[in-house]
This record gives sequence, structure tokens and C-alpha cells, in this order.
Amino acid sequence: MSRRLLFVLGTRPEAIKLAPIVHGFRQYRDEFEVRVCATAQHRGLLDQVLAVFEIRPDYDLDLMRPEQSLFESTTRILAGLERVLDDARPAMVFVQGDTTTTFCGALAGFYRGVPVGHVEAGLRTRDLRQPFPEEMNRVLASRLAALHFAATEGAAANLRAEAVPPDRIVVTGNPGIDAVLYVRDGLQAGRLSAASLPEFDPRRKTIAVTAHRRESFGEGFERICRALAELARRADVQIVYPVHPNPNVRKPVDRHLSGLPNVALVEPLDYITFVDLMRRAWLVLTDSGGVQEEGPSLGKPILVMREKTERPEAVEAGTVRLVGTDPGRIVAEAVRLLEDTTAYEAMARVHNPYGDGRAAPRIIAATRSFLSK
Ligand code: UD1
Ligand code: UDP
Repeated sequence: MSRRLLFVLGTRPEAIKLAPIVHGFRQYRDEFEVRVCATAQHRGLLDQVLAVFEIRPDYDLDLMRPEQSLFESTTRILAGLERVLDDARPAMVFVQGDTTTTFCGALAGFYRGVPVGHVEAGLRTRDLRQPFPEEMNRVLASRLAALHFAATEGAAANLRAEAVPPDRIVVTGNPGIDAVLYVRDGLQAGRLSAASLPEFDPRRKTIAVTAHRRESFGEGFERICRALAELARRADVQIVYPVHPNPNVRKPVDRHLSGLPNVALVEPLDYITFVDLMRRAWLVLTDSGGVQEEGPSLGKPILVMREKTERPEAVEAGTVRLVGTDPGRIVAEAVRLLEDTTAYEAMARVHNPYGDGRAAPRIIAATRSFLSK
């Protein structure tokens, strides 16, 4: 009997990390019927990923509004999902991560009595305000889910400590690593090609930057921009920064950084081109969750512009460092790497703390066994 599965996704990282699983399940057409619902909490960023992975949503709620508040996106997504669940009547709902779409997808499944599979379960900073609102979304998703796909043993331990039944937790690795390794290998083998990036000056070291966290809006972004402007004054550095479309990000970034020599502010890059940028970068400065996971797999040192991380594994291994949003600290940590080859080489090490590229098959196997009980 074919089981219908509904994947609910809304933002760029959810689509990147669910794509390998959607494609994986589609290899078993006699066993599973896959439907994809895009809430389109993001529009442009989501469409970029769906195009790269050739996923056409069966339902598109098209909900993004400029500068949407958490209240607006939460209520609209939840209301939209009621109709989708009524139409799809799935055997299981899949959500990924910690966004508003993740939380609403899990709640919607729970309201309809449909078991929820949570991909990337068990991440915790244990500070409900950092990252905000993602830490709360993860905690709530864990309460609502029936099957928990943890990327690491540490994430599984976090879930057990919250009394999630151990037989409902599966350590799978993060499917984001399936995606990044697929793209890295495709680029290396010439099967995939990236769009063109700004001209790189071979005499300068490229620092790739991304930043978008809500808890840094306002003063935090002012500080991040001041740090980037100071770094860009160095003759040995060039910065390539694909800017998140959120106006709370764009405005300070444009004010502080546009027109500076050595700084290329670019539109968000499609996933293949962004992986190419990370491959070619010397250092990555970010506050992104996904980029923290991908950096070690590409052997790139990552400085994380946040006070806390829910992804401690690479920090403990020494390839990711938390630097907060204080400009003095960000600049000092980047300069340390620029001037100390040993310190740089200790961080620029390929390892895979978040997955081996085979998370999707493990998630499929665990789902099959869960649904056949
Ligand atoms: C969201 C997630 C965050 C995730 C991030 C990935 C929540 C609360 N936050 O943050 O966890 O890390 O996505 O990028 O779920 N916008 C566009 N085009 C787009 C996307 C966004 O213009 O394609 C602008 C719109 O003005 C939108 C705003 O950005 O209203 C905020 O989007 P939203 O999804 O609410 O939050 P993000 O900050 O993107
Ligand atoms: N990414 C991308 N294009 C960009 C910047 C990032 O494709 O211009 C990818 C990146 O490789 C990672 C994901 O988007 O897989 C991270 O998304 P984001 O930073 O928006 O969200 P987070 O991971 O912080 O939730």
C-alpha cells in the first residue's frame, strides 16, 4: 500500500535540507506518494532552492509579506495548512528545523492527528531568546513530533533529557550535509556549474559573509557592519556578502558597506553558487545555522557572529569559533587567522561532525519502520 507523505517547507534552509529526503522518497513510488507544501514564508529565497533541486510544490500557500511579523506569519501559515491537510490526508507530515513554518507544520499535524517527523531535531542552546524565536520553535516541535531525526548523538541526548522516548529518536546525520556534499562533488566533477561570482583578486583573501538573525536586528547589525568595514580596510582582504532580503538586514548593510572598496554586496546566491563561494573563500563569517554545519565539511574556518550556538560539535572540534557581535572581537579573531598561519590551519580542516552525506536514506528507513508498526 502506498503511503502519502506531506513535506511542509517555507524558507531557504528548510528546502535545502528537505530536498535530499524528498528525492530519496521519490525513488520508492510504489511505497510512498510524496507531496510538497511550500508555505512560501520566504518567496525569492525559497524559489531559488526549489529551482536548483527541481522540486515543484503540490501546494503553494504564497504567504510571504514584506516585513512580516511573527504574529502574521504564524497565523497565516497555520490557517493555510488546515486546508492542505484536509486535501492531502497524509500518513505522515515532515517538517525541518526551527522556523515559523516548522512550528506551524508540526502543530497542524498534531491538530489533525497525523504523526509528525521532525528533521534536525534536538538542537538546543537552552536560552529561549537565542536564537529568537528558533529555540522556542525547536522545543515546541519536539513536543509535537512523533518521530525525531537527530543529526548528532548530542542532539539525541538533548531529546532524551527532555523525556522523548528513546525508540522515537533516530540519529541520521543532517540531510544538509547530503546536499552540500552532492553540490561540492558535482562542482568538482563539472556536473554542476555555478553562476559567476564577483571578480576575485588573487592577491587578497576572500571572506564570505552571511547574517540575518532576528536577535541581532538593530544594534547587533550596526556592530557587525562596523566590524566588516574595518576588516575591509586591510589590503589583504576582500569581502563577498550575499545580503539577506529582510529590510532589517538590508538597510544597515547598505548604509555601512555599500560603495566600500574590497566589499562586494551581492543578491542572495543560488545554492550551487553559494557552495562555490564557500569552497573558494578563505574564511566564512556568519550567523547562519546551516553555514556552520557546511563549513567543516568544506574545510573552511567559520567565525560565528552570535553569542550562543545550538551546534557545539564543530566548536568543540576547533573548526568553528563563536565571536559574538562585538566589532573588536570579530576583527581580532579574523586578524588572528590572517596573521597566524598555524591558527588558520588548525581551523581549516575537513571533517563531518553533522553528517556523512547519507542522512536521507536513514530517514527513509526509519520512516518505513515507524509506519509499518
Ligand atoms: C527565517 C526564519 C529563520 C531562518 C531564516 C533563513 C523564522 C521566524 N525565521 O528568518 O529561522 O534562519 O528564515 O533565512 O521562521 N524576505 C524577502 N524575500 C525572501 C525572504 C524574506 O523579501 O525570499 C523578507 C521579507 O520582507 C520578509 C522578511 O524578509 O517579511 C522576513 O522573513 P521571515 O521568514 O519572517 O524571517 P527571516 O528573517 O527570513
Ligand atoms: N545559502 C545560499 N545562498 C546564499 C546564502 C546561503 O544558498 O546566498 C545557503 C547556505 O549554504 C545554507 C543555507 O542557505 O545551506 C542557510 O540558510 P540561512 O542562512 O538563510 O538560514 P539558517 O541556516 O541560518 O537557518
